[in-house]
Amino acid sequence: MSGQNPVTSTKTWANRWTFLLAAAGSAIGLGNIWKFPYIAGQYGGGAFVMLYLICIAVMGIPLLMAETAIGRHTRHSPLNAIRQLTNELGASKLWSMIGWMGMLAGFLILSFYSVIAGWSLSYAWQIVSGGFTGMTTDQVGDAFGGLVSSADRQIFWHSAFMILTFAITARGIHKGLEKGLQVMMPALFALLLIMLGYSMLETGQFMRGFEFMFSVDFSKVTGEAVTAALGQAFFTLSLGMCALMAYGAYMPANNSIPRTALNVAALDTLMAIVSGLIVFPIVFAYGLEPSAGPGLLFVSLTAAFVHMPMGEIFGFLFFVLVAIAALSSAISLVEPALAWLLERTPLSRTVATIILCAAIWFVGLGTVFAFSGDFTFTLFGKNFFDLLDYFTSNILLPLGGLLISIFAGWVIKRSTMMNELGLSVGMFNLWRAMIRVVVPVCVLVVVITTIF
Ligand code: PHE
Repeated sequence: MSGQNPVTSTKTWANRWTFLLAAAGSAIGLGNIWKFPYIAGQYGGGAFVMLYLICIAVMGIPLLMAETAIGRHTRHSPLNAIRQLTNELGASKLWSMIGWMGMLAGFLILSFYSVIAGWSLSYAWQIVSGGFTGMTTDQVGDAFGGLVSSADRQIFWHSAFMILTFAITARGIHKGLEKGLQVMMPALFALLLIMLGYSMLETGQFMRGFEFMFSVDFSKVTGEAVTAALGQAFFTLSLGMCALMAYGAYMPANNSIPRTALNVAALDTLMAIVSGLIVFPIVFAYGLEPSAGPGLLFVSLTAAFVHMPMGEIFGFLFFVLVAIAALSSAISLVEPALAWLLERTPLSRTVATIILCAAIWFVGLGTVFAFSGDFTFTLFGKNFFDLLDYFTSNILLPLGGLLISIFAGWVIKRSTMMNELGLSVGMFNLWRAMIRVVVPVCVLVVVITTIF
């Protein structure tokens, strides 16, 4: 159980906080702050939020535990973890599909994730250099249009973000990460609380925003909303693509997996809810549309920063911290593929990281050009970005989660999981029933209705 991990020079991370920080760093990112409000806005608020919370509780938490436990048990990169287990158990080699799908999902997600994180960097720069000062809300909206219609500007910031990802990943995830995140995550949270204070006290629309998020209109509980909620639950918790399996490989043996999983899920959900409670009151106060789509966070918060005392400073800090939260997620998106390259090829960490990041950067250009209007390809009415987002969040991640739950529940020995999870028999049986039956059935129903 405590074999040397080939990826790092140390067997496990220094202490029990490191795993929590890394896992929370992976989970908390653009999914919470950028994506959650805009999807909730598109699917009618309360109905979506309710479905999303159900998905987190019913599927997210049991799967988080399963992924971490598999990683820690084998202490290998996800693909090799699954290979080792199938060899040990004499199970089908086909299970390694989980690892391949995970690598593909991470690769494709990061390609567009980096473009959006680039928007955040661009906003930080524009705000602090006074680019928005004195603008009306309409002008703030036009400025967003100006950014996304410019391929050059987006490529610049997308490249900057991929270079940062490369710089951190190439040095080994455990070194810089721990210290950095210890400061950045609380800072991001503090800034979110300041913005929450603004939404509560200054917009005059806090209750309207609150009601939008929490009063459920059951006519909005459609199949499409269920699919979107499931996809968002997987995306936001970094599930279904083995990211947490890869991190679990470094988790100290005496850490409690269930407790950590609950903490990660709680922190992640809190961040998303707070983000929604910031965005929607501002949206209503400035006459914006909750269903505005991917620009929602950028336009609404900038409209608020323009009106806030010291808005330039707060705005700068906010968008920098969002980019840093995205960076800690980006590292985990690369990790499964990188860990595999390092175990399977003679490439050095630096070379492997360069190759991977360059390829991801290149695919990201598709998203840039889809936004800028230079790449007009559409399928089922979706452009390149929408297709990638849909295919990864709504199909690849849930399918990966489905396979992982079947693998963890039906293939891996009961005693192995019992040892890793360290739960009482009653709680373990509950977890096992969820992972064997409830998770697969729910995901399957949603995935099948999504595809057909
Ligand atoms: N969970 C991250 C976010 O919410 C995105 C992510 C997805 C990271 C999958 C890793 C794996 O921003």
